[in-house]
Amino acid sequence: MKAVIVYQTTHGNNREIARHLGRALRAIGHEAECHNVHDILPEEAKGADLYIFSSPTHIGRPPRKIRSFLKSLARVQRDGDYALVATRMPDGKDDRPLRTTEMMKRALSKGQLRHRGSLEIGCMGLSGPLEEGWEKKLESFLASVLAGID
Ligand SMILES: Cc1cc2nc3c(=O)[nH]c(=O)nc-3n(C[C@H](O)[C@H](O)[C@H](O)COP(=O)(O)O)c2cc1C
Repeated sequence: MKAVIVYQTTHGNNREIARHLGRALRAIGHEAECHNVHDILPEEAKGADLYIFSSPTHIGRPPRKIRSFLKSLARVQRDGDYALVATRMPDGKDDRPLRTTEMMKRALSKGQLRHRGSLEIGCMGLSGPLEEGWEKKLESFLASVLAGID
């Protein structure tokens, strides 16, 4: 399977997540590429079997850049599966409703990509670190995403 992982990041945490996913996929024999959303056009991301999008939460939602990337990708990529990862401050530090994965899903909803799961990972401060045990959490999420793909 060919996987394309696209992330947005301000402080590097989503890049770490994307790279960890890439390594985990390659370790079980898949092809996996990681791209910063600022370095790839939707047309260039075409042709994957699985997409994973990883985004920070900014003011309760995904940043504009990744939302517009997802909208455009949904127009050019007609088939495939996708999963979403969002980082956020831990519960209690921000009581605004979190709409990050929901809005990413909505940005993709005009296309035909199939949603295979969403995961939130806590970020202990604005710039990190990620919550303890995030690697294991991500690996079991990835296993459940892969198990759901025919
Ligand atoms: C401008 C800005 C707004 C943010 N707003 C929120 C927010 O509304 N809710 C939240 O949980 N975290 C918020 N955060 C914290 C981010 O979730 C955290 O910085 C991010 O997950 C770290 O990921 P990154 O290193 O990949 O950028 C905000 C961070 C920035 C820089």
